[in-house]
Amino acid sequence: MQTHFLLTPVDPDEFEHLAYLYAILYRRMAEPQFNISHTRMPTFKQHCAFLQGYPYERHYLIMSGEILLGACYITRHSEVGIWLDTDHRRNGLGTHILNQLIKRSEHRLVANVAKTNTPSLLFFLRNGFVLMREETEQFVLEHYLAPGGTFATTRQSDTA
Ligand SMILES: CC(C)(COP(=O)(O)OP(=O)(O)OC[C@H]1O[C@@H](n2cnc3c(N)ncnc32)[C@H](O)[C@@H]1OP(=O)(O)O)[C@@H](O)C(=O)NCCC(=O)NCCS
Repeated sequence: MQTHFLLTPVDPDEFEHLAYLYAILYRRMAEPQFNISHTRMPTFKQHCAFLQGYPYERHYLIMSGEILLGACYITRHSEVGIWLDTDHRRNGLGTHILNQLIKRSEHRLVANVAKTNTPSLLFFLRNGFVLMREETEQFVLEHYLAPGGTFATTRQSDTA
């Protein structure tokens, strides 16, 4: 399993971070079956303006040294999002990052999963999320079990 990674908080005043996230957005657009939030690519200026509004409660780049592995966030409504570069999937990294986000969140996390995104649905079900409801284009899941199988509480330790 990939273990040498760092969750680097996104700084929307850092050009490099903005550029990394724009590159990720571009790569995400190539996988429309996994997306519910973007239907077309924003301009770089629009992208920067969006991020400079601090839209997320927590937002991280996933780095291994100088290598960008992906990004993840928790919204102000406790919705979790993780995107990993294709070379770094199905190796346990997503599970590891999700557990870090669960520990850092003050609230029970929610996952909105596009109905076309079966891998993600299986990923969240495998990691203690349960289906709460079905909407037109997505499933809404909520974290139910803490790592180790105990019931999640509303406030968990912030130590990673
Ligand atoms: C979804 C994602 C974050 C999962 O991360 P990952 O590192 O690939 O997942 P893991 O290796 O930790 O997998 C854990 C479990 O999830 C399930 N899973 C993950 N990817 C799967 C796939 N492609 N097909 C079937 N099951 C899958 C499996 O049950 C897996 O356990 P197993 O390998 O023992 O069978 C990653 O695949 C990704 O970035 N996908 C594209 C973006 C996306 O869809 N994000 C989710 C929406 S927020």
